[in-house]
Amino acid sequence: SPTRISLDTAAPGPVVPRRLFGTFVEHMGRCVYDGIFEPGHATADEAGFRADVLELVRELGATVVRYPGGNFVSGYRWEDGVGPRGQRPVRLDAAWHSTETNQVGLHEFAAWAEQAGLELMEAVNLGTRGVAEAADLLEYANHPGGTALSERRRENGRAEPFGIRLWCLGNEMDGPWQIGHKTADEYGRLAAESARLMRFIDPDIELVAAGSSNHEMPTFGEWERTVLRHTAGLVDHISVHAYYEETPGDPASFLASGAALDAYIGEVAGIIDEVRAERGITDPIGISVDEWNVWNQTRWNEVDKPEVFTGDWPVAPRLIEDDYTVTDAVVVGSLLITMLRRADRVSMANLAQLVNVIAPIRTEPGGAAWRQTTFFPFQLTAAAASGHVVVPVIDTGVIPTARYGDVGAVDAVATIAGDELSIFLVHRGLDAETPVTIDLDRSAAGAEALVLTVPAGGDRHTVNSASSQPVAPASLAVDIRDSAVTLTLPPLSWARVTVR
Ligand code: AHR
Repeated sequence: SPTRISLDTAAPGPVVPRRLFGTFVEHMGRCVYDGIFEPGHATADEAGFRADVLELVRELGATVVRYPGGNFVSGYRWEDGVGPRGQRPVRLDAAWHSTETNQVGLHEFAAWAEQAGLELMEAVNLGTRGVAEAADLLEYANHPGGTALSERRRENGRAEPFGIRLWCLGNEMDGPWQIGHKTADEYGRLAAESARLMRFIDPDIELVAAGSSNHEMPTFGEWERTVLRHTAGLVDHISVHAYYEETPGDPASFLASGAALDAYIGEVAGIIDEVRAERGITDPIGISVDEWNVWNQTRWNEVDKPEVFTGDWPVAPRLIEDDYTVTDAVVVGSLLITMLRRADRVSMANLAQLVNVIAPIRTEPGGAAWRQTTFFPFQLTAAAASGHVVVPVIDTGVIPTARYGDVGAVDAVATIAGDELSIFLVHRGLDAETPVTIDLDRSAAGAEALVLTVPAGGDRHTVNSASSQPVAPASLAVDIRDSAVTLTLPPLSWARVTVR
């Protein structure tokens, strides 16, 4: 049945948090080494970073970059990554059973992030380390000078402070796989005391407490409640991590991942409200979805993990280099729709990760860099979504799913900035195209649409590779009548309509 979407731009919703378009670079696999950094590559600059990769990162249009982990950070000594490169220690990275050369550290990465136009979001190690080391790193990075740590930064070539505002208090400390894994009370206390000291040193920072590693953790809910009871009033955000994958034979549930994320956000928001009320806290606590993506974890558990954890200690092994399909790209686009709609509670988000490791950008050593399918919905949303969110009224058919019950065949959200209206749409139906009419409260003249769907001659499993990239956005015909735009969404598609 045809879908009708109505937009009331006179009553806009929350401001679009531009930090929603963050990304994530971890010292893991080939994200840093043989990813963004490859001194031997033909396009490498003096510092060893690939210019072709930097170009794609800029094109992606992300706003924030979380660094340096992930699981890696829970065993990391930040001091190893500063000072003369020739004197930096080589270490075991027990999180990923790899060898860490420390040729990239805070200075190199911050300079690269600046070139890429990304705000740095730095994570501190609350696994093997604690309050003192977190405070030391903050003082090293942000204190202007005149103290041992800040002078050391200056001697290492950075006269001005890095001025890092966003800080993650550890990573996934609820997970038994995490180095220094803790109970909610242990982590909550440590996060609170780290936050207190960090705020004494630099009151301008924003802090993110680590929530659950995923919604299915047995401690989910109780973890958030306990951690927030310790940290509410000291932190600005709590994290949500959410990865989705297709279960063989059940693409409908996979395509409905947005419904799962929506419920997850709602549950965490409820716990935040409960603890704020209990503690009489008036400042808001945002949800930082600081790891999200499609990730074929079955493959990770069955192939990559046994290979790495029973092998030796390689430098930059190929880890979780998922080849993303058209289906995956449509899910990524729909997750962005969900987060934009929940911008009342979601304060930021980071697509995990940026290069090679479950990433929108892939590279080959000495070779090409290319855009995976998932690059496009992220890029097109990040480029257009600004101003305020407009939550539409959607009248659409339903698709039954095994995991999440009935979900809408079409989902959508819009943003408005001045005269520029952008509407993001996903069609989850796999079999037939569907007509969609969008009713605006303004003229629809000049409306244009782009669509990402199965390319001619391909199927929903089509991927882009080093040698061929058949998946890319294409323009989609629109029929404009006064204040209505009608278009036909192909089966399994993500689209963006802009009206200027
Ligand atoms: O992004 C890959 C890994 O997923 C991160 O290191 C960890 O935080 C999460 O489990």
